Amino acid sequence: MSDNQAVIDALKAAVEAAPGNQALRAHLAGLLLEAGQFEDAVTHYRKALDAAPADSTLKAALAEAYLGAGKSDVARVVLDDLMRSSGAAPSALLRAARLYLRLESLPEAAHAYHQALVGDPSLTDSDLEDQVGNVPLEEHPPEKTESQRLTVVSTEEDGGPLIEVERPRITFKDVGGMDAVKEEIRMKIIYPLSNPDLFRAYGKAIGGGILMYGPPGCGKTYLARATAGEVQANFISIGLHDVLDMYIGQSEQNLHRIFEVARRQTPCVLFFDEVDALGANRADMRHNAMRQVINQFLAELDGVDTSNEGLLILAATNTPWYVDLALRRPGRFDRVLFVPPPDTVAREAILRIHMAGKPVERIDYGRLARETREFSGADLRGLVDRAVERKLHEAMRSGKPVPLTTQDLLFTIKETRPTTREWFDSARNYAVYANEGGMYDDILTYLKIRKNDLPQA
Ligand SMILES: Nc1ncnc2c1ncn2[C@@H]1O[C@H](COP(=O)(O)OP(=O)(O)OP(=O)(O)O)[C@@H](O)[C@H]1O
Ligand SMILES: [Mg+2]
Repeated sequence: MSDNQAVIDALKAAVEAAPGNQALRAHLAGLLLEAGQFEDAVTHYRKALDAAPADSTLKAALAEAYLGAGKSDVARVVLDDLMRSSGAAPSALLRAARLYLRLESLPEAAHAYHQALVGDPSLTDSDLEDQVGNVPLEEHPPEKTESQRLTVVSTEEDGGPLIEVERPRITFKDVGGMDAVKEEIRMKIIYPLSNPDLFRAYGKAIGGGILMYGPPGCGKTYLARATAGEVQANFISIGLHDVLDMYIGQSEQNLHRIFEVARRQTPCVLFFDEVDALGANRADMRHNAMRQVINQFLAELDGVDTSNEGLLILAATNTPWYVDLALRRPGRFDRVLFVPPPDTVAREAILRIHMAGKPVERIDYGRLARETREFSGADLRGLVDRAVERKLHEAMRSGKPVPLTTQDLLFTIKETRPTTREWFDSARNYAVYANEGGMYDDILTYLKIRKNDLPQA
């Protein structure tokens, strides 16, 4: 061991003297990995990868170092990235398979092992053979998730956020009700994507995005995901609070990077959540810095240096009144859509989704939907959860499972206060006193407030 340490020390000195010698550095990293000095190994593998970003052998080794250091999430990110790249070395794929096994990801391990063997049939491994030899390949476990995770692009080196690329499985069919919003999305972004020539012929500019606003938990994110599923596009969801960095200049870079990743993944729906985070009208200490970030965002939206072709941009906020006005100019988020609490049809659909797979008696969904006015999608989910919990307690006391009934749910509804009410309390004020350009007419309509009855400005 101490012998090895002497070699390591000598190599460290050599690498320091010749920082450009990546072969030497990779060798050092390998010894560090063997010696269990994982953090150091990570550092050197990363530097080596900076010089050769596509090197699959280095990626597999980096993943192993991360795993050794106890960072299995990051290890997985690196492995997934390796698996997505084309032309990976068979030996790197084999190593990836073993690492996936350590991460207990059998389908991924099976896939990587299979790919390794395709590249080099001599690479059989009895351990892998035993554990994943029989895992069927084509049939990835048919999860009932909303999305399939495609890849995660790491910006972690710069302390930036991780960018996750998904391939949503849900489409508009899975979204109950919300017909007006769906139609707007079709007109504004789906049709232009599928019929670009037609739109050009009428001189309609393609581009710009839709800003959705409304109370929390009412399907904005869900609908954005379904939009991507509808056009079989990739989906990237970005919470802007995560992007905004304390370090001046870092937020701009983060934003730029996100757009760059999305442009490489077209067709792609790029969804920005919490766009109110970009509000310059907020009393924000970092006022000037914020201006810069907004400008960067606008430049990216306008596609100043590059084309945004094939990029569909959606955004959402619960507090549209904080969103910077510059974002609402033509060509940007010039369509601002109110996403109201789910209507009766949507509530029934949402209830069915959340009741699926639970032990139930015949449930009167229509009745439940009628009794849950003002409930958000999230409220409805909470409702089902609480009813199930109560049933579970009962079953534990009595020792036998009892199915959920309509009565159980009605009982839980009575004790629940819908969360959308609070939102409307503040939204009402903006709609009444700050309804510039009729921006919040939809809220007034929803609240059945007639414009004529309002105080004159
Ligand atoms: N119209 C709908 N059809 C089916 N399910 C829905 C619908 N609306 C909401 N849901 C369900 O409610 C959940 C919450 O919705 P979602 O997260 O999209 O709300 P949101 O408007 O983005 O909320 P927030 O403002 O808090 O981000 C969804 O995951 C989905 O299961
Ligand atoms: Mg959301």
